[in-house]
Amino acid sequence: MTADPAHKPTLTGELVELRPFRAEDLPDITAAIDDPEVIRLTGSAERPPFDPEALRRWYGSRGEQTDRLDLAVVDLASGRCVGETVLNAWDATNRSCSFRTLIGPAGRGRGLGTEAVRLTVGYAFEQLGLHRVSLEVYAFNPRARRVYEKVGFVAEGVLRQALRDGGDWADSTVMSVLSHEWARHRGRP
Ligand SMILES: CC(C)(COP(=O)(O)OP(=O)(O)OC[C@H]1O[C@@H](n2cnc3c(N)ncnc32)[C@H](O)[C@@H]1OP(=O)(O)O)[C@@H](O)C(=O)NCCC(=O)NCCS
Repeated sequence: MTADPAHKPTLTGELVELRPFRAEDLPDITAAIDDPEVIRLTGSAERPPFDPEALRRWYGSRGEQTDRLDLAVVDLASGRCVGETVLNAWDATNRSCSFRTLIGPAGRGRGLGTEAVRLTVGYAFEQLGLHRVSLEVYAFNPRARRVYEKVGFVAEGVLRQALRDGGDWADSTVMSVLSHEWARHRGRP
């Protein structure tokens, strides 16, 4: 490995910059997560009203985490934080981790999410030396699935009725990318 998740990089693309959270991001990241679509599509256990102090502690401590990498997604057009990407569930022995992301209403549908996923997963393979990056996406989230497939994630199985979605049950699809696949397509399969 050339780096570990304790190091917090800045990754710059054409549409977004990914960088460690700053105190001034708090209103923007709060707006991003305090959104009904984000809450449902990420299966978040947290429900509004969010505790501002808990959010301040959470985002204020992301830079100190040694076993995960949380980065703010900054829209280069506005300079504002519109979401986040996260590499977590770090498994050093098996060189694997999980991935999750959210882009709030201010950033969605303009290609920012695709670029943010590509930059983060590229960093996971090319700088962190990981072998496998995996995620889960709910059956009612075809947009996220489309983005993950565009970047090279491959569906590998379905967790049946894994989420209580209102009065119903929803399946969750496990997707992953492996290092040799990334080496071949670098996020453009
Ligand atoms: C999923 C998410 C990260 C994608 O980011 P984004 O910036 O909105 O996505 P992009 O604009 O880069 O790309 C969206 C793609 O999905 C496609 N799309 C949009 N709605 C779609 C739908 N209902 N079904 C299928 N594809 C859809 C778009 O056409 C585009 O694909 P294209 O480039 O081939 O045209 C973002 O929308 C988000 O965070 N949503 C809320 C939370 C969430 O779903 N998080 C992920 C949980 S697994």
